[in-house]
Amino acid sequence: MGTLCLVPLFDNIMTIEQRLDRFKKTVDRELERVLSRSNTILFQAMRHSVLGGGKRFRPLLCLAAADAFAPEPAVILPFACAVELIHSYSLIHDDLPCMDDDDVRRGRPTCHKEFGEDVALLAGDGLLTLAFELMARAEVPRRLLTRKIQVIGETAELAGAEGMIGGQLLDITFSAENATEASLGELMLKKTGALITASVRAGALLGGASSAGLKAVTAFGENLGLAFQVRDDIYDAAEKPKKGAPAGPNYARVFGADRARDHLRHFVEAGLEALETGGVKGPLLRRLAGRLLEK
Ligand code: IPE
Ligand code: IPE
Ligand code: MG
Ligand code: MG
Repeated sequence: MGTLCLVPLFDNIMTIEQRLDRFKKTVDRELERVLSRSNTILFQAMRHSVLGGGKRFRPLLCLAAADAFAPEPAVILPFACAVELIHSYSLIHDDLPCMDDDDVRRGRPTCHKEFGEDVALLAGDGLLTLAFELMARAEVPRRLLTRKIQVIGETAELAGAEGMIGGQLLDITFSAENATEASLGELMLKKTGALITASVRAGALLGGASSAGLKAVTAFGENLGLAFQVRDDIYDAAEKPKKGAPAGPNYARVFGADRARDHLRHFVEAGLEALETGGVKGPLLRRLAGRLLEK
């Protein structure tokens, strides 16, 4: 790992947006580096999906959560990249014909459209395993070793069959007739909220948060996860129906766009409230939450 200066000398005169922009560039560079090991068709497919755009919302949340507790979050970078790799793998598999059957992702052909279903499936597998390699091999100060192991275990659990994957299962088996706020909430909390929660918890744990700080950040992550999926559903519902498989459960289609917008605001406010209650300042976390209420 190269040396990193995530906290600039003149930190105090940098705006929050400038700091987030700097974090994003650092993450982009590191993702580029870890994916340049080989030029096999598999790595080309992995690079196509990871490096072709993306807001990097989860790695930014991870770095922002660390920043809320520790002055120097450089140690967090491999974990921030890992959550983006897990996210990218989940999108490759989500887009496959047997799932949402989507042709376009981040304005470009989906991985299976560009490389075929077989390579896309393997590219997803490659990204998922690479994420855990990055975390396992990450160098951390001795005092953080126990927390590092905790982060790897939690991330596996939250991304796994009882977290994100469990949410994807709920998504493909969801019955629209029986949709309630609770059933849709559980689905969103798992399919989207779990990885977002894993991202902020990883940052907070490695940033040295106390149990009160962790509790606050966890509640923030869960609410932000719900807000994130409601927002995605509002935009999806406003688009014309896509080809292929029938659209999966969509919050805005089930409850209407107005109610969905109210709930989006409510979830963002509840997330901010959780930080307030836990005494977590976290200006970068607050800014990222605020982005969900903007266009
Ligand atoms: C899209 O995630 C999939 C959802 C979980 C809603 P993002 O909106 O974070 O996608 P990118 O990474 O910016 O493309
Ligand atoms: C994607 O959810 C969630 C995961 C990949 C875990 P969606 O299917 O709702 O997201 P988009 O609309 O394809 O980005
Ligand atoms: Mg889906
Ligand atoms: Mg999808």
